Amino acid sequence: MIMWIHPVLQTLALALSLYVLALGWVRFSFAHLGKKGVVFAWKRHVLLGKIVLCVWALDFAIGLGAAWWGWQTVFITGAHYKVGLAMLPLIAFGLASGLAMDRVKAKRTALPLAHGAFNALLVLLALYQLFTGILILRDMVLG
Ligand code: HEM
Ligand code: HEM
Repeated sequence: MIMWIHPVLQTLALALSLYVLALGWVRFSFAHLGKKGVVFAWKRHVLLGKIVLCVWALDFAIGLGAAWWGWQTVFITGAHYKVGLAMLPLIAFGLASGLAMDRVKAKRTALPLAHGAFNALLVLLALYQLFTGILILRDMVLG
């Protein structure tokens, strides 16, 4: 039971992140591709984006806790924990840049682009985590 909290939460957050990315894409196509007649669901993007990034970060700690609980050691899952570690600074940047752009609204180019690019990269990394995470479930939790 304990070993399933982390994978289930991270998978749900990954699914939600695809929606947050789709909302961000609306903003991107308006700001950079000159698309007309689209509305960026600003508040929804901010709220759900915060949920995704906070769950990814907090559930990192739950994964470590579960590893300790199940195996009495941590950092044994190879690429999975390494990519997880690499995600942490990106998550911090995604949150900080998002919060800054939400607090002080302004016409910007570079910061939204960096925010969108790094967060899209995070979604890709989370997809990779799903792939390696399923192997861990198969070989180290169920196996
Ligand atoms: C999974 C998480 C997230 C993804 C994938 C994501 C993605 C994106 C993308 C692709 C854009 C468009 C960038 C552009 O027009 O160049 C964007 C814009 C924006 N995001 Fe996020 N985002 C995420 C989380 C957040 C969070 C947590 C916040 C706030 C705390 C936030 C606030 C904003 C704001 C305010 C904009 C509009 C910026 C502007 O055009 O001035 N995002 N996001
Ligand atoms: C999305 C971001 C994710 C991050 C940042 C992350 C991070 C971590 C970390 C740091 C650990 C501890 C590993 C160790 O000490 O070697 C871990 C364990 C684990 N992860 Fe992930 N993970 C993510 C997503 C997933 C997903 C989507 C799955 C599976 C569907 C998964 C399955 C597991 C499993 C089975 C463990 C062993 C401990 C446990 O069962 O809770 N992870 N993860």
